[in-house]
Amino acid sequence: MDLAQISAALAARRPGYTLPQALYNDPAMFEFDLHAIYARSWLMAGFTCEVPDPGSYTSIRIGPWPVLIVRGRDGQILAFHNSCRHRGAVLCKEGLGKSPRIVCPYHRWTYNLDGSLLSAARMPDDFDTGEHGLRPVRLEVVAGVIYICLSDNPPAFEQFRTDMETVLAPHDLENAKVARVETLVEYANWKLVMENGRECYHCQGSHPELSRTFPVGSSAYFDYGGAEHARQFEERMADVGLPCGPVGEDWWQALRFPLNPGMKSMTVDGAPASKKLMCKLGDGDIGSLRWALEPHSFAHATGEILFFFSAMPTGPKETLVTAKWLVHKDAVDGVDYDGEAIAEPWHTTNLQDKELAENNQAGVDSPGYVPGPYSPEAEVLVLRFVDWYCARAAEYLDEQLVDGKQGVKGQLHAA
Ligand code: FES
Ligand SMILES: [Fe+2]
Repeated sequence: MDLAQISAALAARRPGYTLPQALYNDPAMFEFDLHAIYARSWLMAGFTCEVPDPGSYTSIRIGPWPVLIVRGRDGQILAFHNSCRHRGAVLCKEGLGKSPRIVCPYHRWTYNLDGSLLSAARMPDDFDTGEHGLRPVRLEVVAGVIYICLSDNPPAFEQFRTDMETVLAPHDLENAKVARVETLVEYANWKLVMENGRECYHCQGSHPELSRTFPVGSSAYFDYGGAEHARQFEERMADVGLPCGPVGEDWWQALRFPLNPGMKSMTVDGAPASKKLMCKLGDGDIGSLRWALEPHSFAHATGEILFFFSAMPTGPKETLVTAKWLVHKDAVDGVDYDGEAIAEPWHTTNLQDKELAENNQAGVDSPGYVPGPYSPEAEVLVLRFVDWYCARAAEYLDEQLVDGKQGVKGQLHAA
């Protein structure tokens, strides 16, 4: 598909219905979505506790694109395109590391932690190091979470910062550590992975483990229909001074909601996963603070643990899911928590969701597929995601087509 065909497919979309087939499986959609969506959105890139010291870095990928996040000598965290200004080699391999300088493994060009080029051997006398610093990527930190946007013209961030700071700060993520990381490749288009992650219509049948603690039956956006335990929860949170929201804009939302009655955490049995609390308020019984960013992530923070989920497209029908579990930095594996058991029930839930998304993809690929209706009650957040996606895609198409770049970009995105 070229841009005109993608535009036609989007125009053919019926509001309230799943997307036209090509948007879920055409090879051109992979490139399109990367440029139209992932390159222009704020993304949850990690946590400040992953880069604790000057020189600490985390090397990640946004889809195929390598990005380096580094803590500088002054303690400030910066992000750069992880591509050497000499001949473009990736500077730091994926994962966490620490180094006083960033040294390219290819010809040893050496950069300071602020991205400036320090030295490049055997270059001519008139070579200007000042013109060959690493290219910066927008980065913001809110309450211990790192967000990046590859665009020079990112969505407005201020309301997000203010509102998220208020609801998330009590969880003290500056004093957290990552207890576990798991990655999973799902052979499904990233939009199917995210649609699945934005509803619990399927949870009762597919996630018996999660269903014990998670209110899978609550309607719409955690609406308990005036249930007594939900009312008591709100009162108790107000008493202990924990803001619940909801807060949000079109690309994000956050809400603290009660778990099932009697459940303190999203664990196998509802008991806390770690003895050391992250949030000191509410005595470890504070429901879950869920926040989600379009296009790719959600997180749940209970009193003692945080679970993070991110989906990155790695192919037209391939998505890399990263899951992280954070606990208080002083919590000791084997004493305060069990490093293996901590992953449940989300580990199992993610595997169940992989099967659901891959099965969904196989059916969507069928010549018999026609878009079907979402439940306005049970799939309200899927509708929100799909509407947001279509609006952002249309915005990008308008810019590309109106700017007369169809010739260049149209070819770039053509299958
Ligand atoms: S590509 Fe990095 S030094 Fe040559
Ligand atoms: Fe699920």
